Amino acid sequence: MNQKGINRRDWLKGAGASLLTAATLKAQTTPQPPAQQIPEGQTSTHMLDAQESVGEPPAIAANREQRMQWWHAARFGMFVHWGLYSARARHEWAMENEAIPIEEYMAFTKQFKPKPNAPRDFARLAKAAGQKYIVMTTKHHEGFCLWDTKLTNYNAAKQGPGRDLVREYVDAARSEGLRVGFYYSLMDWHHPDGAKCATDEAARRRFVDYTHGLIRELLTNYGKIDVLWYDVAWPLDAAGWESVQMNEMVFQLQPEIIVNNRNKLQGDFSTPEQHITAESGGRAWESCMTLNDSWGYQRADDNWKNSRTVIRNLITCARDGGNYLLNIGPRADGSIPEESVRILQEVGQWMSKNGDTIYKSDRCEPRRSAYASYTRTGNTLFMHVHYWPGGDVNMCGLKANAKSVRLYANNQKVDFKQDPYQLHMYNLPQQAPDHPVTTLAIECDSEPTQDNIFVRKEKPRDGV
Ligand code: GLC
Repeated sequence: MNQKGINRRDWLKGAGASLLTAATLKAQTTPQPPAQQIPEGQTSTHMLDAQESVGEPPAIAANREQRMQWWHAARFGMFVHWGLYSARARHEWAMENEAIPIEEYMAFTKQFKPKPNAPRDFARLAKAAGQKYIVMTTKHHEGFCLWDTKLTNYNAAKQGPGRDLVREYVDAARSEGLRVGFYYSLMDWHHPDGAKCATDEAARRRFVDYTHGLIRELLTNYGKIDVLWYDVAWPLDAAGWESVQMNEMVFQLQPEIIVNNRNKLQGDFSTPEQHITAESGGRAWESCMTLNDSWGYQRADDNWKNSRTVIRNLITCARDGGNYLLNIGPRADGSIPEESVRILQEVGQWMSKNGDTIYKSDRCEPRRSAYASYTRTGNTLFMHVHYWPGGDVNMCGLKANAKSVRLYANNQKVDFKQDPYQLHMYNLPQQAPDHPVTTLAIECDSEPTQDNIFVRKEKPRDGV
């Protein structure tokens, strides 16, 4: 099964459908969720042909598998939300949710004063956590550009920090050996045409030129960029944004880049947000998630996930062939909330011992247990026990013969017995040998699968 690619025809179906359902400019009242894949049967051949003639950048489908190889192997990335909203410290939607007048909001430029090279701390933390790439906001919905753009003075080099923060970020990520991603919000609450573009063609023309121009700068001035992560396409559709041309330009400037699906085209991967849902049909996906409940710094948000939850999420993504993009929201001075640092360091300690069970994992079918979850590499099943039960650990319905069992972190042999119902692993320590998750490597004689209801159906029962 091809797990990594999506063929040209599938991509065209999605792109064609979003273009063709949106021939005219339409104002939408709420930010739109990411473009959905059009189910089989809802797209006629005629539509496909129409889209073919619009012209897909050949690079996007032709070398997708090769472009995305590093990304699939990376599995785990860091998202960074950083901007004027970090000074407001009330979540990155504060400007709209609190209806803050433009002039009042612009005053946050005075408080957005990061220490020099603050992104080095982001990159170091990402590396320590086992994250292989970073995606940082270059412009969020507030419209403030973190780089030295020629297209607006509303940018970090001319106001606020007085420095090109994108440059600092790119340098920092590269010096830690991390792949570099740019988040870019199409929606813009600051630009005078940011809403008007939906109903006024002259405004749309200006705004689309501005948008393509900003993206062109980002992909021209900072060397090789690995990911372009579009966000919220309100209020235009793919036709309005000229998204096909946008992607064409992107691939001309950065032939190796990968792009997400939030400019209303399918792009290279889907972006489930705050939940983990695998894509069907082998399409690539990346689940993005906050560490508390906010992307941008929110000083009062103390609803932190613990390191165990993060590791379990990462395992779930890896099990189902996806990536996990986990967010930090630094403060206006560039410091990272201490809780985020602590959690990511704990995750990193676990990853330093157990990381290969994530990075090198194939899709894994087994999923049933109330105290463990699974990943797999070839014929070896990794049972990740998050609630250590004590001296024995058991798995139901394993449909392969176990040849050996070891504690993954220290390679210590584990005693086991197997019958058709149960894999029984025993003489284990009462206390969990690893923290916050203990991984058992179960080497099997064939690809391990699990029959979830074999025990329920087949296990001999008692009389009444
Ligand atoms: C949503 C939010 C935004 C955040 C993004 C991350 O689209 O509007 O604030 O940046 O999700 O995926």
